[in-house]
Amino acid sequence: MRVSDKVAARLKELGAELRQGVPLAEHTSLGIGGTTDEILLRRYETIPEIMRLLADENIPHRFLGGGKRLVVSDGGLAFVVLHLPCSAPGMRVEGNAAYVDAAADLGGTVTFCAKRDLGGMEGLIGVPGSVGGALRMNAGAYGSQIGPHVREVELYRAATGEIETLRGSDIRFDYRHTSFAPDDVMLRVKLELPSKPFKEIVAGIKVCNEKRRGSQPINQKSAGCIFKNPAGSSAGRMIDELGLKGHRVGDAMVSDRHANFFVNVGNASCADMLKLIDGVRERVRTAYGIELENEVIVWRN
Ligand code: EPU
Repeated sequence: MRVSDKVAARLKELGAELRQGVPLAEHTSLGIGGTTDEILLRRYETIPEIMRLLADENIPHRFLGGGKRLVVSDGGLAFVVLHLPCSAPGMRVEGNAAYVDAAADLGGTVTFCAKRDLGGMEGLIGVPGSVGGALRMNAGAYGSQIGPHVREVELYRAATGEIETLRGSDIRFDYRHTSFAPDDVMLRVKLELPSKPFKEIVAGIKVCNEKRRGSQPINQKSAGCIFKNPAGSSAGRMIDELGLKGHRVGDAMVSDRHANFFVNVGNASCADMLKLIDGVRERVRTAYGIELENEVIVWRN
């Protein structure tokens, strides 16, 4: 989608940067996604006004974080994407509190806090993505989850059109799910982390990295686990038991390392990936009577 010259001029006045015709395949870890205009939000305080501008001009939009959990439609996209600058995200520590911009890299945040003797997030070290994405989905791995550490979140709430601060106790963090509205935009978070010597944190991080390297296709283009685990079961184990590792639709393939990761082994299209996802879901439904729910987020046109 292309924004008009009039909207482009207003965005410039508001301090936002417009990048035209951006291929989202370059912004997603799967390497899949069509083309659209991207608006880089350089000043948080202008977000409410930019959102009003987009609403007034009937411009559909989506908010792009780290792009690590997304399956995006092919071709020309019918929406623009909004993006927070992530080159020099704010991070600081005061006592046991860490104040971090949502655009910060999650792994970088774990390391930053570790160097200041704050632990508790060791398992999150290899989870790809931004802090904002981790908050929205309550990212978790190897016994760590971000939710329990959240004390405050500053966010843009589409429901009120304002920037607000929520207390951690007012947010529900469940397994890969939170009470944030789909159109809430994470801006900053205050985390409270337990004190732990750097050396101990690093030892924990090493264990998690080794487990991850041994079981997940970390060097291939993927979007992390495709499906949530059903209560008391493992999506990866079921898909593996069905002999589906290596199963392909075009260049979209069920990883031969971990069956709940689907990888782009060449030039997979969104259509290929969705066909693979739906086909595997169907096979699991038939064999196990379980309907797998997507963990990845699909942006259809
Ligand atoms: N398994 C297989 N074959 C496979 C994959 C797994 O038999 O191809 C078996 C394993 O041997 C194990 C069981 O299934 O007995 C569980 O596997 P694993 O320990 O790899 O954990 P998972 O349930 O597949 C979950 C999270 C991961 C997280 C790991 C480690 C979900 C959907 N997945 O995976 O998170 O990294 O635990 O904590 O919750 C993600 O959410 O994107 C993600 C990668």
